[in-house]
Amino acid sequence: MKNINIDLKNAGISDKEIAEYKKQVAKIHEELHERVDDENDFVGWLNLPSNYDKKEFDRIKKAAKKIKKESDVLLVIGIGGSYLGARAVIESLTNTFYNLLPNKQRKFPQILYAGNNLSPNYLNDLIHYIGDKDFSVNVISKSGTTTEPGIAFRVFREILENKYGIEEARSRIYVTTDKEKGALKTLSDSEGYERFVIPDNIGGRYSVLTAVGLLPIATAGIDIDKLMEGARIAQERYNDSDLKYNDCYRYAVARNILHKSNRNIEILANYEPKLHYFTEWWKQLFGESEGKENKGIFPAGVDLTTDLHSMGQYIQEGRRELFETVISVKNTDSQVTINVDEDNLDGLNYLVGKDLDFINKKAMEGTIKAHVDGDVPNIKIEIDTLNEECIGEMIYFFEKACAVSGMILGVNPFNQPGVEKYKTNMFKLLKKPGYEK
Ligand code: PA5
Repeated sequence: MKNINIDLKNAGISDKEIAEYKKQVAKIHEELHERVDDENDFVGWLNLPSNYDKKEFDRIKKAAKKIKKESDVLLVIGIGGSYLGARAVIESLTNTFYNLLPNKQRKFPQILYAGNNLSPNYLNDLIHYIGDKDFSVNVISKSGTTTEPGIAFRVFREILENKYGIEEARSRIYVTTDKEKGALKTLSDSEGYERFVIPDNIGGRYSVLTAVGLLPIATAGIDIDKLMEGARIAQERYNDSDLKYNDCYRYAVARNILHKSNRNIEILANYEPKLHYFTEWWKQLFGESEGKENKGIFPAGVDLTTDLHSMGQYIQEGRRELFETVISVKNTDSQVTINVDEDNLDGLNYLVGKDLDFINKKAMEGTIKAHVDGDVPNIKIEIDTLNEECIGEMIYFFEKACAVSGMILGVNPFNQPGVEKYKTNMFKLLKKPGYEK
């Protein structure tokens, strides 16, 4: 069964235009797959779903169980690629109000996030919220030196130590970092924290299917075997070097064709609020991979129909440099049927007996048509259902599409030199040793 379908009929692109990329894509495919075994390269994510450390995978499951037993809250400390993937999967696959559910209903620890900003309000509100709840910390940083998670970890480590004593605090701290270097690695060695590895050849934004994402995801009660299985299916499915038979490559090519005709902004639109953080993850993946050397499509995101009442006007009639990629979820188990109201003051009786998902889909169809008529080309990506397999498959689909798209564009999709610029300025202003001048 195919879990992801891509529909380009409203993209305003012909099969002939796509076919023109056949040779280039086949060459990129070959290059990418040749690079996969190079430990010093950043293509380790490519075979990860079929080639991951099974022992570490089991350790992740055990750690998740231990956290569940000991804690009401898992605090995930990380930023960018070190947290967005976990949050994307957790919010896609758990109850929309997961963290608000009483413990008995939720059954797994609340998942909260820190170290992804420098706001004292956020940190103090979080400290206040955690209060006397039992909690554990998963600090995630490949470099081990990133300022935002570093500060948050310093604060929460002290809180843990004051609350539980040094020994017990140690057993509540889980570190996910580089296998041999960095401050977190050194600290976890000296303190004896349980440690998980971010493989050398996998960059932050491609790391959700490593311990970076898997420990928080497993702690939220999500089946990580199924998630990996979905990704493995995608690894197989999107392994055809022939663009004609590879939807992942067709998506990569379609966005490049659109970009060439001055479509500089891609809006990822969902009609399911659970996918909000999936969009955030996607934005980082494409933004950090392609936005360099004055090139790249700007990745934006909207939650619909919510944002039709805020961004809809711009999409419909603003500057015509947009294209829209809609993620549509085909099947849902959740039903809300519209009941009759005698007075019909809201005029909604014409919907009586209809299911809300049906209405949502009609809103989507109507919106796609309106946007296409308004000169916003559309790519539709339909997934079967919101479950572990589909999300795993979608993660791999976008990771590979992003790598191929960046290579078509002529940039290195695996580095992020620009991210350092703000850090240097900030360090100078903060007078970090070594940055005084
Ligand atoms: O994708 C990336 O490489 C970045 O977003 C990093 O994940 C982010 O900057 C956090 O870095 P680190 O994991 O070293 O703390």
